[in-house]
Formats: sequence, structure tokens, C-alpha cells
Amino acid sequence: MIGKLNHVAIVIPNLAKATATYRDSLGATVSEPLSLPEHGVNVVFVELPNTKIELLEPIDDNSPVAKFLERNADGGMHHICYEVEDILAARDQLVSTGARVIGSGEPKNGAHGKPVLFLHPKDFCGTLVEIEQV
Ligand code: CO
Repeated sequence: MIGKLNHVAIVIPNLAKATATYRDSLGATVSEPLSLPEHGVNVVFVELPNTKIELLEPIDDNSPVAKFLERNADGGMHHICYEVEDILAARDQLVSTGARVIGSGEPKNGAHGKPVLFLHPKDFCGTLVEIEQV
């Protein structure tokens, strides 16, 4: 069911510092920062030949990723996003196998303006999984 790896999201405390790490140390192409107040984050996209890395900085303490930083002060891998062709069919299949969808179960528009769902890490090897319809 799942297709390509769309992105890996890393939450970090300082976007400028993380941008410099990826651009200057790792030699990657990094986008200009983008503010997504509806998601509570500032983000840059690291463009790799086969996928993207998203560096997410919480906008404020109410950000959905602010608590993650309380537990991981230096930042860390937050979630991994797989592409699916049909998000409702994917959801129904996942639920039928006992997987838990986080929230209402209805897809929301994610950081790329496409429908996404998040799946409970306890059901997926300890990793928060995002599925995105592309
Ligand atoms: Co994501």
C-alpha cells in the first residue's frame, strides 16, 4: 500500500542553526524558511535526490511539536511520511488491521496542502507515521 518515502521530519530548537548544519556541513540544498502558523511550525525543506528532510521549529509553546522538544532538547526525528494513492482506502485498510489513526480519523491538509493522516507510533515500531495522498 505505501509508496515512496515522501519526507522525514526532524524537530529542532533553532531553524537557522539546523539550516546551517544541513547546508554548510552536510552540503545539502535547503529551501528558504516558511512559516506555517496553522501547523504551529516554521519549516525548511532539505532537498535530497530521492526524498526530502523537513526541519521543523515550533512557533511557540502551543505548537504541536513543542512538547517533543521538552523531551528531546537537541531535537530529533519526529515522523516519517509515506505516500499513498488513496488516503481513505489506506485508512480503512489500516484500521481493519487494528492500527490506530490519531485524531478524528478524517484526513487534514498537511504542510504541503495535501490530505494527510498520522498513525500511532505504538502500532508502527515506535515511529510516528504520516501518510500523504499524492
Ligand atoms: Co510531515
